Amino acid sequence: MSERSQHQTGRTAAYDSPFLRACRREPVPHTPVWFMRQAGRSLPEYRKVREGVPMLESCMRPELVTEITLQPVRRHGVDAAIFFSDIVVPLKAVGIDLDIKPGVGPVVENPVRSRADLARLRPLSGDDVPYVTEAVRLLTAELGTTPLIGFAGAPFTLASYLVEGGPSRNHEHTKALMYGDPELWADLLDRLADITAAFLKVQIEAGASAVQLFDSWVGALAPADYRRHVMPASAKVFDAVAGYGVPRIHFGVGTGELLGLMGEAGADVVGADWRVPLDEAARRVGPGKALQGNLDPAVLFAPREAVEEKAAAVLSAAAGLEGHIFNLGHGVLPTTEPDALTRLVEFVHERSAR
Ligand code: CP3
Repeated sequence: MSERSQHQTGRTAAYDSPFLRACRREPVPHTPVWFMRQAGRSLPEYRKVREGVPMLESCMRPELVTEITLQPVRRHGVDAAIFFSDIVVPLKAVGIDLDIKPGVGPVVENPVRSRADLARLRPLSGDDVPYVTEAVRLLTAELGTTPLIGFAGAPFTLASYLVEGGPSRNHEHTKALMYGDPELWADLLDRLADITAAFLKVQIEAGASAVQLFDSWVGALAPADYRRHVMPASAKVFDAVAGYGVPRIHFGVGTGELLGLMGEAGADVVGADWRVPLDEAARRVGPGKALQGNLDPAVLFAPREAVEEKAAAVLSAAAGLEGHIFNLGHGVLPTTEPDALTRLVEFVHERSAR
């Protein structure tokens, strides 16, 4: 198949993997499982290769990205790899002055709050992130039939970091801009949608076989505000990559009241956190979409029997769904015991075998 038609059908070497079949709501031999933040500080082999290399710099070294992305696949036997990068990498690539501070997260030197600031968000092209193209190519060659998930931050979550200048509990500057100057807000989100869509396209064109849009902090909004102030930009991102035929996953934390709208924005798979059982999440999302989730990551600190009991409850809530991808309800916590994750993968595979 030519590279072009492969992009149009999403038919990578991983096409028939359980993960991609579940995303398409096709029958699977077992429920596929992967973990958000499966690569990272919970793994000693990660801490070793990252020693002395700042986070953002590590994202720009294709061999290192490849090694880190493969680590959890080797160790845990998960059904998919997620590209090692960060949601702020495309912002850095267009010249925003930001850094990722250890134990804190992304910090933006000069927050974006005025019309004049918008000019700093120029469009992203593939030439801005050659290291992403190279790393995805290396990875898909290594992974073979194991799918690689590309990802990006959604416009709202990126805007939150840009407007606040760093992580925020209440998103007060962000909401002040959204409610106080809705036109400027809409223009900001529109620029971010273009950057995000371009970043996802780079990953898909280099070989990623699914993409996840992380709108981690959008659960801070009420449905009416989501619909008016966020959904148009997120929908623009999903539309921009619809033609590739790769599954599009949409995830946020604390989004119980937004699940229907997040599906409507254009996702094929909706991720839920642990606050809403998956059968109820599926009811809110409506027909025609797969679900991903949703074990509380903190459960992994409990004894094995308790973890298995909670994991079995996730599987039984999902038993009537057409497509289910097992995941945590948010990222792996950095102090999680790696063996607990390996055991969880085995448990989900065995318990769901058909
Ligand atoms: O394994 C994977 O999931 C792939 C790698 C990945 C990272 N960040 C690497 C990373 C992914 C998918 C992300 C996405 C991301 N980044 C999100 C969305 C997912 C979520 O958790 O809600 C968000 C909100 C960010 C912003 C960000 N970057 C935060 C909040 C942090 C943590 C700060 C800290 O140190 O606790 C980062 C840094 C970061 N990104 C780390 C990793 C492995 C930790 C830094 C390090 O290891 O040095």
